Amino acid sequence: MTSIESQTTSHLLDQQTLAEFIQHAGEIEHPREMIIDVLRAIQSHHGWVPDEGVELTASILGLTPIEVEEIATFYDKIFRRPVGRFVIHLCDSVCCWVRGADEIAAYLKKVLDIEFGQTTADGLFTLLPSCCLGCCGIAPAVMIRQEFFGPLTPEKVDELITSLRKEALA
Ligand code: FES
Repeated sequence: MTSIESQTTSHLLDQQTLAEFIQHAGEIEHPREMIIDVLRAIQSHHGWVPDEGVELTASILGLTPIEVEEIATFYDKIFRRPVGRFVIHLCDSVCCWVRGADEIAAYLKKVLDIEFGQTTADGLFTLLPSCCLGCCGIAPAVMIRQEFFGPLTPEKVDELITSLRKEALA
């Protein structure tokens, strides 16, 4: 067991994933290329990436925390503070914008009673703006987890929110 594995990291990564990352980092020339993979794994396990997650990533990859932090804060799908169970990434790039993303943004804010960057009081939804999600054919679109939804209308937003609320209750 390495010194990293002997630290208490189970709330950030399961032991097997941690061991695999350590092994892989030792085998490749530029472990830095794994930063997003490690951060995403921590986020998937913990829900978001706390400072300890940045430090753990740096330890695994032989980097400084600041090198990891630069990537973590640049990449908008890595959450450096707690988020809701469902993070709604609403595209505000040109195809979605010309097809009504502003109206969908206003509707989502009204229905959820939050602004961009906020989480609903029940902890279920966080609303974030996003650059192009790569699914312009279904503009205006959102991404939730790794799934895309669109073209959105207020009715479809209602259906989506209702179905996610049901899922949360199940
Ligand atoms: S512009 Fe919205 S998905 Fe591309």
